[in-house]
Amino acid sequence: MKVIVFGGDGFCGWPTVLHLSKAGNEVIIVDNLSRRKIDIELECESLTPISPMGSRLAAWKEVTGKTIKFFNMDVSKDYVRVLDLLKDEKPDAIVHFAEQRAAPYSMRSPRDKIYTVDNNLNATHNILCAIVESGLDIHVVHLGTMGVYGYTSHGLKIPEGYLDVKIPVGEKDIDSRILYPANPGSIYHTTKTQDALFFQFYNNNDGLRITDLHQGVVWGTNTPETILDDRLINRFDYDGDYGTVLNRFLMQAAIDYPLTVYGTGGQTRAFIHIQDTVKCIELAISNPPEKGEPVHIYNQVTETHRIRDLAKIVSELTGVKVNPIENPRFEDAENELDVENKQFLSLGLNPTTLTEGLLEEVHEIAQKYKDRCDWDKILPTSKWKV
Ligand SMILES: NC(=O)c1ccc[n+]([C@@H]2O[C@H](COP(=O)([O-])OP(=O)(O)OC[C@H]3O[C@@H](n4cnc5c(N)ncnc54)[C@H](O)[C@@H]3O)[C@@H](O)[C@H]2O)c1
Repeated sequence: MKVIVFGGDGFCGWPTVLHLSKAGNEVIIVDNLSRRKIDIELECESLTPISPMGSRLAAWKEVTGKTIKFFNMDVSKDYVRVLDLLKDEKPDAIVHFAEQRAAPYSMRSPRDKIYTVDNNLNATHNILCAIVESGLDIHVVHLGTMGVYGYTSHGLKIPEGYLDVKIPVGEKDIDSRILYPANPGSIYHTTKTQDALFFQFYNNNDGLRITDLHQGVVWGTNTPETILDDRLINRFDYDGDYGTVLNRFLMQAAIDYPLTVYGTGGQTRAFIHIQDTVKCIELAISNPPEKGEPVHIYNQVTETHRIRDLAKIVSELTGVKVNPIENPRFEDAENELDVENKQFLSLGLNPTTLTEGLLEEVHEIAQKYKDRCDWDKILPTSKWKV
C-alpha cells in the first residue's frame, strides 16, 4: 500500500513510518517539524539524541535499501499543498498524527490554547476536506485519545467509541447508537473530541472511510526498527509538559529523582507500549471500513494502572523514592477505569506488558542517556487553573 503519515517525525509517527516501510508499504512523511521547534521554545530536548530528518532517512536507506519521501508542510495552514500531494501521490491510506499532543502544553497560556485549537482542528479538517476535493477513496487512520471519554465511567466498561442507548420518545423508547458522550479534561483533549465530530460529518456526508483510534498513554521508546542504527532512535520526552507519566518516572528513577506523583496518585489511566502502537496502526490500515460503514473506533490500550501503583512498581525495581506533589491538573483525585479493547485483540494484537518491558527501558534508555537530562525541566510548569 501507499501510505502518507502526517506527523511522521514525532514520537509515535517515526516508529510507525519505519514499521510500515519495513512491512513493504510505500511510505511518505509529512511534518512541519513543529515538535522540534517546541523543544527549542521549552529549552528541553528529547532525552535520546534524535537525528535531523535528512540523517534519519539516509540511515533507513543505508540499513534497509528503502526510500521514504519527506515533505515539510504545515497541514493546518497549507491546504492547497495537502490537496496537491494527495492528487499527485494517490495514497491508499493516511495516518494522521499531526497535532499538538500535550495536554499540559495546551493549558500553559491563552496563546498555547489558541495554537492547539487552530493547529489540531485545522489539520484534521484540511485532510478530510482535501480527500473529498481530490475525489480519491483514501482510508484515514487518526490518532485520538482515551481522554475523549473522560475518566469517570460510573462502573461502566468504556465501550469502543459508541454507546447503545434508549431515547424516550412519548410512550416509547427508541434504540439508538451514539458517540460515547465526550468529557474532555484539557484544551488538547477538547480538540480530539471535536475531531470525532468532523469524522462523523465527513463519514455521513461524503462517505469517507475513517478509523479513529482512542489511544492510551504511550510508554517505551524503541521498536525493532528504531534500534537498527543510532540515527534511527526515537524521541523520549521526560519533561513536565511533554513527558508521558511512565517515561517521566523511568527517567526520574535513572537519576534517583523522587518520583513526581500528582496528588494522591489515585488517577487510573490506560497504557500502551510504543511497539504495540505501531502494530495497532498496521492492523487498522489492513482492516479498513467498507464504503458506507460508520467510522470505526477502537480503544488502543492494553492495560490500565493507578498512577501510585506505577510509581510503586518503578520504585521497587530501582530503589528510588516516591514524592507526591501538588496536582497541577484539575481532575478527580481518584478514579476507576475499565476499558473495552477486544477489537485489536481479536485482530491478533499480542500486547507487551509493563512487567516485561519496564526494566529493559530503565537500562537501555533512561540509564544510558541520563546525562542529557536537564533537572530543571522535570517538574510540571503548566497549571489548569490560574
Ligand atoms: N504520545 C502519547 O502518549 C499519545 C497518547 C494518545 C494519543 N496520542 C496521539 O498521537 C498523535 C501523535 O502523538 P506523538 O506523541 O507522536 O506526538 P508528537 O508531538 O511527538 O508528534 C506529532 C508530530 O506532528 C507534527 N505536527 C504537529 N502539527 C503539525 C502540522 N500542523 N503540520 C504538520 N505536522 C505537524 C509535529 O512536528 C510532530 O512531529 C497525536 O495526535 C496524539 O494526540 C499520543
